[in-house]
Amino acid sequence: MNGRTRELIERLAQEHHLTENEYAELIEDRDDEAAALLSQRAVAVRRAIYGDAVFTRGLIEISNICKNDCLYCGIRRSNGNIQRYRLTPEEILSCADEGHALGFRTFVLQGGEDTWFTDKALCGIVSELKRRHPDCAVTLSMGERSRESYQRLFDAGADRYLLRHETADAAHYARLHPPGMSFENRMRCLNDLKEIGYQVGCGFMVGSPFQTARELAKDLEFIEAFRPDMCGIGPFIPHHDTPFGDRSAGTLELTLYLLSIIRLIHPPVLLPATTALGTIHPQGREKGILAGANVVMPNLSPVGVRKQYALYDNKICTGDESAQCRHCLEARMQSIGYRLVVDRGDIHK
Ligand code: 5AD
Ligand code: FES
Repeated sequence: MNGRTRELIERLAQEHHLTENEYAELIEDRDDEAAALLSQRAVAVRRAIYGDAVFTRGLIEISNICKNDCLYCGIRRSNGNIQRYRLTPEEILSCADEGHALGFRTFVLQGGEDTWFTDKALCGIVSELKRRHPDCAVTLSMGERSRESYQRLFDAGADRYLLRHETADAAHYARLHPPGMSFENRMRCLNDLKEIGYQVGCGFMVGSPFQTARELAKDLEFIEAFRPDMCGIGPFIPHHDTPFGDRSAGTLELTLYLLSIIRLIHPPVLLPATTALGTIHPQGREKGILAGANVVMPNLSPVGVRKQYALYDNKICTGDESAQCRHCLEARMQSIGYRLVVDRGDIHK
């Protein structure tokens, strides 16, 4: 590590801010020593806020039907090789009931942009979930919707919304998405969600096609300005039935490096060690926590549909029951000296 890199890391840890050029420099000039110093600083600030707690959220993948055609995504509309499914409201609620019995107090309902989930349908599910489990937080991850729709869902009881920005560079965004989608609308959605009062999560893939240190620096600058409550990052992993099927995956090393940087940019941020990170390395999630992450999201989807929710190849946890997934992660966190906490896990601001 050169003196300049050390100076950037120490300044980031102190001031939680660097310029776009400095972020690019920090990424380009990285080495093992820089990564070690960053993760040490990141873990220290996270420990000061959250101690040894790792929050957990139960993920329910409610539909793999999607009207969009994102070039990187395995459940894109053009993929005719997957079996499509949609959980019924009763199935979704019973996954949540099972999760509640296992101790989960946050549920993430995630799905493709499936038009069956009108405001009326989704509001009904959210309000019934909140009626049954008033002590739980409900997070939605259902893509781009109108401001009115986000407002109705919020009024029905949804607390949080995850919508990765995917890239903070408009030209890069256009290369990852079909013509009908726009960076402007993505930003409109994120701003609406924040204004309405949701706790909002953004995020991006590490190593997505065409991404360089410049795009990543813009992502970091965006996170600094937007100050999300949550930030989901994980490696890009190719899916064989997409236009990016022959690209290479993002690396463990760069993902961990960015997790540490994001922790230092916004110390209280809720930062998951994602399933994609666990997919590219057997101890990916543990390493993510040791780099500064503080959330894990075990899968509560019915085992029968899990393989069909394949955004990328070789996804882990597709054969395990909810209880197995929970206990597996609890053991994994204990193995590195952390404690899995099942409460709502709100951000400590
Ligand atoms: N590899 C890794 N992550 C992916 N996602 C979609 N496709 C892939 C892929 N091939 C991520 C996107 C999306 C989130 C739900 O999953 O960032 O926002
Ligand atoms: Fe799902 Fe380990 S976390 S099986």
